[in-house]
Amino acid sequence: TVVALLFGGRSSEHSISCATAGGVLRAIDRSRYEVIPVGITHDGAFVLEDDDATKFTLDPAHLPEVHDNGTRVHWPESAVSRELTVVDAQGAVRLLGAVDVVFPILHGPYGEDGTIQGLLDLVGLPYVGAGVLASALGMDKHFTKTVLSQAGIAVAPWHTVTAREWASSPSSVADLVGSLALPVFVKPARAGSSVGVSKVKEWGELAAAMTVAFAEDDRVLIEEGIVGREVECGVLQGRSGASARASVAGEIVMTGREFYDFDAKYLDAPGIELVCPADLTAAELAEMQSLAVRAFAAIGCEGLARVDFFLTPGGFVINEINTMPGFTPISMFPKCWIATGLSYPEIIDELIALALE
Ligand code: DAL
Ligand code: MG
Repeated sequence: TVVALLFGGRSSEHSISCATAGGVLRAIDRSRYEVIPVGITHDGAFVLEDDDATKFTLDPAHLPEVHDNGTRVHWPESAVSRELTVVDAQGAVRLLGAVDVVFPILHGPYGEDGTIQGLLDLVGLPYVGAGVLASALGMDKHFTKTVLSQAGIAVAPWHTVTAREWASSPSSVADLVGSLALPVFVKPARAGSSVGVSKVKEWGELAAAMTVAFAEDDRVLIEEGIVGREVECGVLQGRSGASARASVAGEIVMTGREFYDFDAKYLDAPGIELVCPADLTAAELAEMQSLAVRAFAAIGCEGLARVDFFLTPGGFVINEINTMPGFTPISMFPKCWIATGLSYPEIIDELIALALE
């Protein structure tokens, strides 16, 4: 089976995607899969990358990146061919082979938001993970929450503000959000890995937080901070139409940090511990898994997802759903599945098998 592994990309989560790809390159079973590593530069060029996991390791001192090496990978022009070609820096054209499945291990806009999924649909290449609609919904925190609340799933109270509204009348925005209890979280609608996210403990900090978030997107959510334990689980689609299943839970235990921010996620900043499996009662775990599967279905997800929750005294509240969760060997998605009984290479097998069904 020929797998085109797509990674990097134009979003602020470029390096996380590279680290995820490094994990996959290292673990994928080479006796079963031929891998074509296709990197996407920050500028959006598709380049033929080295099949070298060591180049894409998550090193807090030096985050991995795709650089423009002058090659250009070309997709088939239409759904009647599956041939990928590469043009090298000297202009020579070479066939890379007929691709069976694309693994778009991309996070953030132009990767996890339905755009690349739309391209792959157009050229008729099967791919791992969610399709256009679920990717677009899952990427956008405003629409994720809208759909989940409609499905009867609890989410944190929030308001969404456009850049135009904020610029023309910050005082109206302040009136609108004044009913939310502090602290609030200010988040770009479409970003991930906590990029652009701030915790606001006093309203006087709001303006600075809005500026940070608007650097990522022109729509921003102001969301009530939920007091509760932060727990997450993985979801995998069922085979042959069987219903999706959820993994055991992992927990992010805060030991002296305001929230699970980018530095804590990837740069080994202190004050966070990932615990998997989380210490939940059987009833709590069962409820969380059933909500995760409902959320997966509510947005029409396929393949995989990681669903993030707060466990509050009043029950579970969903924070978000990630349609292409971080997949580095230390990430919560593989950790949760490993604790459930799948190995890292088996997760990869399962995702590829699902894409080919
Ligand atoms: N957006 C990051 C990669 C995650 O959800 O794991
Ligand atoms: Mg996320």
